[in-house]
Amino acid sequence: MNLLIMGLPGAGKGTQAAKIVENFKVAHISTGDMFRAAMANQTEMGLLAKSYIDKGELVPDNVTNGIVKERLAQADIKESGFLLDGFPRTIDQAHALDEILEELGIKLDGVINIEVDPNSLLERLSGRIIHRETGETFHKVFNPPVDYKEEDYYQREDDKPETVKRRLDVNIAQGEPILAHYRQMNLVHDIQGNQDINDVFTDIKKVLEKLK
Ligand code: AP5
Ligand code: MG
Repeated sequence: MNLLIMGLPGAGKGTQAAKIVENFKVAHISTGDMFRAAMANQTEMGLLAKSYIDKGELVPDNVTNGIVKERLAQADIKESGFLLDGFPRTIDQAHALDEILEELGIKLDGVINIEVDPNSLLERLSGRIIHRETGETFHKVFNPPVDYKEEDYYQREDDKPETVKRRLDVNIAQGEPILAHYRQMNLVHDIQGNQDINDVFTDIKKVLEKLK
């Protein structure tokens, strides 16, 4: 299966992606994770990405399209299928993705769109914690880890309230035309994201079982 997962910052894309990957064995491609890995390694691309991400702005399309194209062209993708998380995030990226997939002879099977009340997102992002060793995402209140030790977890730099506000504004402005693009192609499956994490996954699973 070749899938996209869409939703505002904090909608639960990464949380649900982890469950989808475990159940359906598709490759998880998260542009945010790729940028954070490059930032941690202080590569040239990582330093460039950081200058945008720290302000809550989008990394320029030419950089982002390039890393996605490179990853989708790798041999494992045709075998396993993929779940793109956080891309496309502008209408130009959506058009670039159409071209990349056509060039590679890959067909998109579905777009999972997690719908959430934007008012719930600040609380989700300010309470998000990530395990240093495994990279697994939790929430202090909504999804607390067993045996929580503060020093084993970190918070994302861009989860500061000022940055979150900018991220939400940017993503709300860009999101609609992208969804309209995929609705026209009859690919979008809307999922109610303001429910318990496991209930969100139950709804996603129903959709994916049919697409499989
Ligand atoms: P990226 O890493 O993609 O961030 P984002 O889109 O802002 O989304 P998040 O990862 O913050 O949220 P999520 O939906 O994955 O939520 P999660 O599951 O963690 O991108 C970061 C930055 O990189 C961008 O701002 C941009 O600068 C750059 N970038 C990335 N892609 C780009 C692109 N294509 N073009 C240009 N720039 C790009 O959940 C959040 C929290 O809520 C967690 O604590 C979780 O436990 C909790 N939670 C999840 N589900 C629920 C639930 N149902 N109920 C209660 N709590 C829940
Ligand atoms: Mg994420």
